[in-house]
Amino acid sequence: MNTKKYRVLGISGSPRKAATDYVVQEALKYLRENHPVETKYFSVMGKELKFCIHCDHCIQTKEGCVFKDDMEEVFGLMEWADAYILGSPVYQGNISGQLKTLLDRTRAILARNPNVFEGKIGTGIAVGGDRVGGQEPTLRTIHDFYIINYIFSTGGGAFGANLGATIWSKDKRAAGAKADKRGLKTLYKTMDRLFIVLEKLR
Ligand SMILES: Cc1cc2nc3c(=O)[nH]c(=O)nc-3n(C[C@H](O)[C@H](O)[C@H](O)COP(=O)(O)O)c2cc1C
Repeated sequence: MNTKKYRVLGISGSPRKAATDYVVQEALKYLRENHPVETKYFSVMGKELKFCIHCDHCIQTKEGCVFKDDMEEVFGLMEWADAYILGSPVYQGNISGQLKTLLDRTRAILARNPNVFEGKIGTGIAVGGDRVGGQEPTLRTIHDFYIINYIFSTGGGAFGANLGATIWSKDKRAAGAKADKRGLKTLYKTMDRLFIVLEKLR
Protein backbone atom coordinates (compact mmCIF):
# COMPACT_ATOMS: atom_id res chain seq x y z
CA MET A 1 0.00 0.00 0.00
CA ASN A 2 1.26 3.46 -0.84
CA THR A 3 1.37 5.46 2.40
CA LYS A 4 2.46 8.63 0.64
CA LYS A 5 -0.46 10.99 0.48
CA TYR A 6 0.77 13.56 -1.99
CA ARG A 7 2.94 13.78 -5.09
CA VAL A 8 5.33 16.70 -5.39
CA LEU A 9 7.31 17.67 -8.47
CA GLY A 10 10.41 19.85 -8.15
CA ILE A 11 11.74 21.66 -11.22
CA SER A 12 15.11 23.36 -11.41
CA GLY A 13 15.34 26.14 -13.99
CA SER A 14 19.14 26.27 -13.92
CA PRO A 15 21.22 24.98 -16.83
CA ARG A 16 23.91 23.83 -14.36
CA LYS A 17 24.26 21.34 -11.56
CA ALA A 18 24.80 24.12 -9.04
CA ALA A 19 22.87 26.14 -6.44
CA THR A 20 19.32 25.80 -7.78
CA ASP A 21 19.71 22.09 -8.42
CA TYR A 22 20.95 21.64 -4.84
CA VAL A 23 18.19 23.74 -3.28
CA VAL A 24 15.31 22.14 -5.19
CA GLN A 25 16.61 18.67 -4.34
CA GLU A 26 17.05 19.73 -0.71
CA ALA A 27 13.42 20.93 -0.66
CA LEU A 28 12.24 17.55 -1.96
CA LYS A 29 14.42 15.68 0.54
CA TYR A 30 13.06 17.81 3.40
CA LEU A 31 9.48 17.12 2.31
CA ARG A 32 10.10 13.36 2.05
CA GLU A 33 11.73 13.23 5.48
CA ASN A 34 9.07 15.27 7.25
CA HIS A 35 5.80 14.69 5.44
CA PRO A 36 4.05 11.80 3.69
CA VAL A 37 4.94 12.80 0.17
CA GLU A 38 6.60 11.17 -2.79
CA THR A 39 8.64 13.34 -5.07
CA LYS A 40 9.98 13.57 -8.60
CA TYR A 41 12.56 15.93 -9.99
CA PHE A 42 13.21 17.54 -13.35
CA SER A 43 16.11 19.81 -14.26
CA VAL A 44 16.34 21.85 -17.44
CA MET A 45 20.08 21.11 -17.48
CA GLY A 46 21.08 19.52 -20.78
CA LYS A 47 17.50 19.26 -21.97
CA GLU A 48 16.10 20.15 -25.36
CA LEU A 49 13.32 22.66 -24.70
CA LYS A 50 12.29 24.55 -27.81
CA PHE A 51 10.68 27.97 -27.59
CA CYS A 52 6.92 28.17 -28.02
CA ILE A 53 6.46 29.58 -31.55
CA HIS A 54 2.76 30.37 -31.13
CA CYS A 55 1.85 28.18 -34.09
CA ASP A 56 -1.45 27.37 -32.32
CA HIS A 57 -1.14 23.67 -33.22
CA CYS A 58 -2.03 22.90 -29.58
CA ILE A 59 -5.12 25.12 -29.66
CA GLN A 60 -6.37 23.93 -33.05
CA THR A 61 -5.78 20.19 -32.64
CA LYS A 62 -5.93 19.79 -28.84
CA GLU A 63 -3.30 17.09 -29.30
CA GLY A 64 -0.42 18.67 -27.42
CA CYS A 65 2.64 20.46 -28.74
CA VAL A 66 3.93 20.37 -32.30
CA PHE A 67 7.44 19.86 -30.90
CA LYS A 68 8.40 16.47 -29.48
CA ASP A 69 11.31 17.27 -27.21
CA ASP A 70 12.04 16.99 -23.48
CA MET A 71 8.80 18.79 -22.66
CA GLU A 72 7.05 15.46 -23.20
CA GLU A 73 8.61 14.31 -19.93
CA VAL A 74 7.61 17.55 -18.18
CA PHE A 75 4.01 17.23 -19.36
CA GLY A 76 3.74 13.74 -17.85
CA LEU A 77 5.32 14.85 -14.59
CA MET A 78 3.07 17.90 -14.29
CA GLU A 79 0.00 15.74 -14.82
CA TRP A 80 1.27 13.28 -12.19
CA ALA A 81 1.93 15.81 -9.41
CA ASP A 82 -0.42 17.31 -6.81
CA ALA A 83 2.03 20.14 -6.17
CA TYR A 84 4.86 21.95 -7.90
CA ILE A 85 8.04 23.53 -6.61
CA LEU A 86 9.46 25.77 -9.31
CA GLY A 87 13.04 26.78 -8.57
CA SER A 88 14.88 29.36 -10.61
CA PRO A 89 18.22 31.10 -10.62
CA VAL A 90 17.74 34.86 -10.76
CA TYR A 91 18.70 36.09 -14.23
CA GLN A 92 18.43 39.85 -14.80
CA GLY A 93 16.17 40.11 -11.77
CA ASN A 94 13.76 37.40 -12.85
CA ILE A 95 13.36 33.73 -13.77
CA SER A 96 15.81 32.07 -16.16
CA GLY A 97 15.01 31.92 -19.87
CA GLN A 98 15.04 28.14 -19.62
CA LEU A 99 12.29 28.12 -16.99
CA LYS A 100 10.29 30.73 -18.91
CA THR A 101 10.47 28.52 -22.00
CA LEU A 102 9.25 25.52 -20.02
CA LEU A 103 6.34 27.52 -18.58
CA ASP A 104 5.34 28.91 -21.99
CA ARG A 105 5.23 25.40 -23.42
CA THR A 106 2.72 24.21 -20.78
CA ARG A 107 0.09 26.00 -22.90
CA ALA A 108 0.01 22.83 -24.98
CA ILE A 109 -1.36 20.63 -22.20
CA LEU A 110 -3.75 23.32 -21.01
CA ALA A 111 -5.11 23.55 -24.56
CA ARG A 112 -5.59 19.77 -24.62
CA ASN A 113 -7.31 19.73 -21.22
CA PRO A 114 -8.39 23.05 -19.67
CA ASN A 115 -8.68 21.33 -16.26
CA VAL A 116 -5.19 19.83 -16.31
CA PHE A 117 -3.92 22.06 -13.49
CA GLU A 118 -7.20 22.44 -11.63
CA GLY A 119 -6.75 22.12 -7.86
CA LYS A 120 -2.99 21.66 -7.94
CA ILE A 121 -0.77 23.73 -5.66
CA GLY A 122 2.46 25.54 -6.41
CA THR A 123 5.26 27.29 -4.64
CA GLY A 124 8.61 28.80 -5.57
CA ILE A 125 12.31 29.05 -4.87
CA ALA A 126 14.51 31.89 -6.13
CA VAL A 127 18.32 31.64 -6.05
CA GLY A 128 20.32 34.82 -6.63
CA GLY A 129 24.02 35.58 -6.68
CA ASP A 130 23.30 38.76 -4.73
CA ARG A 131 21.55 38.92 -1.37
CA VAL A 132 18.91 41.24 -2.83
CA GLY A 133 19.27 40.40 -6.51
CA GLY A 134 15.69 40.02 -7.66
CA GLN A 135 14.57 36.96 -5.71
CA GLU A 136 11.16 38.51 -4.99
CA PRO A 137 10.33 39.49 -8.62
CA THR A 138 11.44 35.97 -9.56
CA LEU A 139 8.99 34.48 -7.07
CA ARG A 140 6.26 36.83 -8.29
CA THR A 141 6.72 35.55 -11.84
CA ILE A 142 6.40 31.98 -10.58
CA HIS A 143 3.23 32.90 -8.65
CA ASP A 144 1.82 34.64 -11.73
CA PHE A 145 2.22 31.41 -13.69
CA TYR A 146 0.23 29.57 -11.02
CA ILE A 147 -2.51 32.21 -10.87
CA ILE A 148 -2.92 32.28 -14.63
CA ASN A 149 -3.10 28.50 -14.89
CA TYR A 150 -5.64 27.71 -12.13
CA ILE A 151 -2.98 26.48 -9.71
CA PHE A 152 -3.33 27.49 -6.05
CA SER A 153 -0.29 29.56 -5.25
CA THR A 154 1.41 29.51 -1.87
CA GLY A 155 4.50 31.16 -0.39
CA GLY A 156 6.23 30.57 2.91
CA GLY A 157 4.08 32.84 5.06
CA ALA A 158 4.69 35.95 7.10
CA PHE A 159 7.49 36.22 9.68
CA GLY A 160 10.16 34.39 7.79
CA ALA A 161 9.46 33.29 4.26
CA ASN A 162 6.75 35.54 2.81
CA LEU A 163 6.57 34.92 -0.99
CA GLY A 164 8.59 31.71 -0.84
CA ALA A 165 12.17 30.53 -0.52
CA THR A 166 14.86 33.13 -1.22
CA ILE A 167 18.44 31.89 -1.43
CA TRP A 168 21.69 33.83 -1.72
CA SER A 169 24.31 31.70 -3.47
CA LYS A 170 27.01 34.42 -3.56
CA ASP A 171 27.68 33.00 -7.04
CA LYS A 172 29.30 30.00 -5.34
CA ARG A 173 27.09 27.29 -6.77
CA ALA A 174 25.83 24.58 -4.36
CA ALA A 175 28.41 25.43 -1.68
CA GLY A 176 27.13 29.01 -1.56
CA ALA A 177 23.51 27.90 -1.18
CA LYS A 178 24.44 25.37 1.51
CA ALA A 179 26.15 28.13 3.49
CA ASP A 180 23.08 30.39 3.34
CA LYS A 181 21.49 29.15 6.58
CA ARG A 182 19.02 32.01 6.68
CA GLY A 183 17.93 31.27 3.12
CA LEU A 184 17.55 27.57 3.90
CA LYS A 185 15.22 28.49 6.78
CA THR A 186 12.96 30.20 4.24
CA LEU A 187 13.13 26.99 2.20
CA TYR A 188 12.02 24.70 5.03
CA LYS A 189 9.29 27.12 6.14
CA THR A 190 8.01 27.27 2.58
CA MET A 191 7.97 23.46 2.33
CA ASP A 192 6.07 23.13 5.63
CA ARG A 193 3.57 25.68 4.37
CA LEU A 194 3.20 23.78 1.10
CA PHE A 195 2.32 20.66 3.06
CA ILE A 196 -0.27 22.55 5.17
CA VAL A 197 -1.90 23.83 1.99
CA LEU A 198 -1.84 20.33 0.48
CA GLU A 199 -3.66 19.03 3.57
CA LYS A 200 -6.23 21.79 3.36
CA LEU A 201 -6.93 21.64 -0.36
CA ARG A 202 -6.28 18.10 -1.62
C1 LIG B 1 22.61 35.66 -17.21
C2 LIG B 1 22.72 35.77 -15.72
C3 LIG B 1 22.05 36.78 -15.07
C4 LIG B 1 22.13 36.90 -13.69
N1 LIG B 1 21.43 37.89 -13.08
C5 LIG B 1 21.40 37.97 -11.74
C6 LIG B 1 20.59 38.95 -11.09
O1 LIG B 1 19.89 39.73 -11.71
N2 LIG B 1 20.59 38.96 -9.73
C7 LIG B 1 21.33 38.08 -8.99
O2 LIG B 1 21.29 38.13 -7.76
N3 LIG B 1 22.13 37.15 -9.59
C8 LIG B 1 22.17 37.06 -10.94
N4 LIG B 1 22.91 36.09 -11.55
C9 LIG B 1 23.68 35.12 -10.71
C10 LIG B 1 22.88 33.85 -10.45
O3 LIG B 1 21.55 34.12 -10.08
C11 LIG B 1 23.50 33.02 -9.34
O4 LIG B 1 24.85 32.71 -9.60
C12 LIG B 1 22.74 31.76 -9.09
O5 LIG B 1 23.25 31.09 -7.99
C13 LIG B 1 22.79 30.84 -10.31
O6 LIG B 1 22.10 29.66 -10.04
P1 LIG B 1 22.81 28.23 -10.26
O7 LIG B 1 24.00 28.23 -9.33
O8 LIG B 1 21.76 27.26 -9.88
O9 LIG B 1 23.18 28.15 -11.69
C14 LIG B 1 22.89 35.96 -12.93
C15 LIG B 1 23.58 34.95 -13.60
C16 LIG B 1 23.49 34.84 -14.98
C17 LIG B 1 24.21 33.72 -15.69
